[in-house]
Amino acid sequence: MKYAPLVKRIAGEGARAWEIHYAAQRRRDTGEDVIVLSVGDPDFSTPAAIVDAAIDSLRRGRHHYTPSVGIPELRDAVARNHQRITGQSASADNVAILAGAQSALMAVALCVLGDGDEVIVPEPMYVTYEGVAGVCGARLVSVALRPEDGFQVDPGRIEAAIGPNSRALLINTPHNPTGAVLGHAVLEELAAICRRHDLWMISDEVYADITYDTPHISPCSFPAMAERSAIISSLSKSHAMTGWRLGWVVGPTQLIEHIDTLSSSTLYGSPPFIQDAAVVALNKNHSELAHMKAAYRARRDRLCADLQAIEGVSVRQPEGGLFVMADIRPLGMTSQEFVQALYESENVSVLSGEAFGPSGVGHVRISLASSETDLIEGCQRMARFVAGLKERQGF
Ligand SMILES: Cc1ncc(COP(=O)(O)O)c(C=O)c1O
Repeated sequence: MKYAPLVKRIAGEGARAWEIHYAAQRRRDTGEDVIVLSVGDPDFSTPAAIVDAAIDSLRRGRHHYTPSVGIPELRDAVARNHQRITGQSASADNVAILAGAQSALMAVALCVLGDGDEVIVPEPMYVTYEGVAGVCGARLVSVALRPEDGFQVDPGRIEAAIGPNSRALLINTPHNPTGAVLGHAVLEELAAICRRHDLWMISDEVYADITYDTPHISPCSFPAMAERSAIISSLSKSHAMTGWRLGWVVGPTQLIEHIDTLSSSTLYGSPPFIQDAAVVALNKNHSELAHMKAAYRARRDRLCADLQAIEGVSVRQPEGGLFVMADIRPLGMTSQEFVQALYESENVSVLSGEAFGPSGVGHVRISLASSETDLIEGCQRMARFVAGLKERQGF
């Protein structure tokens, strides 16, 4: 049978990046001794009060259709959460509730990008961005981030990449995979660039609540940015709710109206019991969240110290998010070779930095969303693997 041209546009490198992860996960699920450090899915359970709220909602008979872009209580709770994080006022009319940040990204892209449009994006980048642009017929124009600059965005290089077809700048802070957090000065310049060139600022902030050293700042906090910003976030990482598929867009009311129309022919509204639970997630304090954040910080510190102790491996401490990028360039193999060989010889899965773009070359991404025990054991196996390489190749 024939398929639409779309299927080619969504099957890039990004879609293949997960192969090693899925293979490892399958083997671990059947009880094999495999350590999976390749995915940002928190090993914590969702806080109990949120789970109770979903059960209670189901028992109360909340089983039916909901408005396309969310129930008013949740849109209102997201608007208030946005205000807390960004200092910007927003109302329920600025919010669309969708199935996770991923669907939110897709909805924004479908409403602002057309055939032949270009999206400027710092690279390495989260692997799904390629597919999102591809669905819209748009083209990603990537701007390389350099490990030597701590993978920080250079606004001058972003501006140099802008051309007549540029429609949007897509940023992600705290960043997956590098852990870099964009600071005030850089964001202010990026905001000015968007205003100067009449670009949308699409900001993926799913790790906004997980910072260690540098506080998260949203680009919509700068003057005249709310009207051109689409802020994307979710409960997936902040509340350990990846499986609940609850995310959102905060943006200008007109964008939300377009997403509403789009959602009528795609999602047609999120499940009511998930939304009720999300209201509780955002409106109540959950002691578990502080515990999770402290655990991520402790894991980051321990993992970075353990990796740094391996000869030929170095790390830059992530300032936020759930990933550590280990620099393996001195080992004299590509990151894909390293990842494959580590998996085959030690049953440890990590992701190749190159899967996130060419500037991830010589790096591997390790997830802090895995348990301490797995991280320690995984790192010991990696040290043994590197020692073996040294013996065989004398790198
Ligand atoms: C940078 C980034 N954006 C978006 C997502 C998707 O998040 P969600 O689970 O809310 O769809 C992820 C998930 O790992 C991510 O790392």
